[in-house]
Amino acid sequence: GVTEIKTYTLEELKQHRTKDDAWTALNGKIYNITPYLKFHPGGEKELMRAAAKDGTKLFMQTHSWVNYDFMLDKCFVGYLNGEQHSLP
Ligand code: HEM
Repeated sequence: GVTEIKTYTLEELKQHRTKDDAWTALNGKIYNITPYLKFHPGGEKELMRAAAKDGTKLFMQTHSWVNYDFMLDKCFVGYLNGEQHSLP
């Protein structure tokens, strides 16, 4: 069948703000960062700063060279359906 690609609003993203259920958005893609928390070289606290929000700026300020898309491939949840990313 056809793979359904889910999109979420910023309001939905904001609901996922705890360590047990944490989402972040990077360049329009939403990831569940909960499974990655204990592996993050910068620590859980740092990574949680990006939870429930668009973490692109924080991420780019700290390590723009890190290939998050590859690393978080299995954590991909869907797309952030914001004004910037919505289709015409
Ligand atoms: C280090 C991945 C988000 C803060 C690292 C490193 C990786 C990584 C691979 C090691 C980089 C290196 O040594 O060259 C990720 C992924 C993220 C993420 C996949 C996806 C969400 C964040 C966020 C912050 C952050 C949002 C800050 C708010 C840091 C810091 C270090 C670090 C401070 C340096 C740790 C050290 O060298 O002592 N991260 N990170 N990271 N990360 Fe992240």
